[in-house]
Amino acid sequence: MKHETIETNAGWLIGLTLIVISIGGLVEIVPLYFIEDTIEEVKVEGKDTIHPYSSLELRGRDIYQREGCYTCHSQMIRPFRDEALRYGHYSLAAESKFDHPFQWGSKRTGPDLARVGKKYSNEWHVQHLIEPRSVVKESIMPNYGFLMKPLSYKNLANRMRALKVVGVPYSESKEEYEANVKRFGEDIAKNLDILHAEENLLAQAAAGNYDGNADDVTEMDALVAYLQLLGTMVDFNKFDEGHFAKFR
Ligand code: HEC
Repeated sequence: MKHETIETNAGWLIGLTLIVISIGGLVEIVPLYFIEDTIEEVKVEGKDTIHPYSSLELRGRDIYQREGCYTCHSQMIRPFRDEALRYGHYSLAAESKFDHPFQWGSKRTGPDLARVGKKYSNEWHVQHLIEPRSVVKESIMPNYGFLMKPLSYKNLANRMRALKVVGVPYSESKEEYEANVKRFGEDIAKNLDILHAEENLLAQAAAGNYDGNADDVTEMDALVAYLQLLGTMVDFNKFDEGHFAKFR
């Protein structure tokens, strides 16, 4: 059959297009029924090391979204050598399983931030956010000095409840709390407790003093707390190289 016959006959064109598309669909969908899990298991001594954000980090993440940081920064290190050399281990699916919505992004005007946590000091982040060009001369990142204003943490419990609806294990009842202690350990479980969200936020801000000003809890505190956590939940030294390859 000449190709022209297909191109000039809507019936043939539609029929053959559908066949080609369904082959593509089958190739993508069928394997999903044969692999057990697409999300890696990341346990150390029986505890999940990837956990939901504390109330302060959660507010930091809200600000990250509000300010549109994702329009210039991705949070997904791809499994290529150059990316691993620059940013560290490629991102695991498990590392963003509690992110709603995830912040993988698709635009890198600035560097990927998936493993920026602990890379710089808090002071560096504050200075950089207030005036990026004071630390990186050629930076084109905007100034975010206005984040040095008091953080609003009303609705905190409702924000956490909303995430709970989509499967993030924040706890409200005693049973849920106990389940979190078993899954993440007591230190983390405490931070996931909706009933003490506000108190936890204040305590973490006071202990971390992220913005260098101990009097006030600011949006800067929350954002820096969030940035310092990014990519730090998995200690890759504790896993042998083949471990994560099993899930690919
Ligand atoms: C217009 C694009 C743009 C926006 C919007 C933007 N950034 Fe940046 N960012 C950059 C560029 C470019 C760099 C690299 C130069 C530098 O370090 O300033 C950078 C660097 C960074 C770094 C240092 C990364 C590293 O590994 O050295 C951090 C952290 C960062 N940005 C956080 C943020 C946060 C948080 C926001 C939102 C409040 C934000 N950025 C918004 C462009 C942007």
